[in-house]
Amino acid sequence: MIIAIDGPAASGKGTLGKRLAAHYHFRHLDTGVIYRAVAKALIDAGADPSDEARAVAAAHELDPEKFGHPALKTRAIGEAASVVSAFPGVREALLTFQRQFAAEPPGAVLDGRDIGTVICPNADVKIFVVADPVVRARRRTLEARSRGEDVDEAVVLADILKRDERDRNRPVAPLRAAADAHVLDNSNLDIEAGLMAAIAIVEAMKVARLHK
Ligand code: C5P
Repeated sequence: MIIAIDGPAASGKGTLGKRLAAHYHFRHLDTGVIYRAVAKALIDAGADPSDEARAVAAAHELDPEKFGHPALKTRAIGEAASVVSAFPGVREALLTFQRQFAAEPPGAVLDGRDIGTVICPNADVKIFVVADPVVRARRRTLEARSRGEDVDEAVVLADILKRDERDRNRPVAPLRAAADAHVLDNSNLDIEAGLMAAIAIVEAMKVARLHK
């Protein structure tokens, strides 16, 4: 089974993806880290994230062993990731890795922006997570502060809105809900309640499949 979770920045899809995967004993891939890793490789090499040729080269040389690096989570890397991810060559280079990950048994949960629309259009379950931008900024600020980052909530909000705008309006694989996605608004849900809502969606899809 493949579960595709998409949604805007800081909507809680990463946490939900991880918890949902643990619940079903599936593997989990936060695809945002892949684009963040490309961005970090460029920044570490002193290159500009808007340098398309270098971004595509970095995407081809990616080392999945480095996806757990804590520096990938910073705001600056998130911003640069949104720039490199708009290049078609970068997305193309990362497609096979994501599809292979999704296809391996016993099942997988992938979260990102284009999982239900481009990477796994035939996913068994698609969830599009949304949340009020103010709530998202609050959560992201608290998360950054817990890592010791000194961040201003208003800046985080502006950043999130800018990233959403760029992700929604790019010509390749823009952020949008697939036609068959279930929208899950977690503005007023804590992590546990969001997980329960997602499990209810998955279980309902399983039942619907049995009756097909
Ligand atoms: O989800 P996260 O905030 O880690 O993603 C960082 C950036 O990577 C996003 O703003 C988006 O531009 C890009 N991204 C993407 N497609 C995905 C996952 C992330 O374009 N599947």
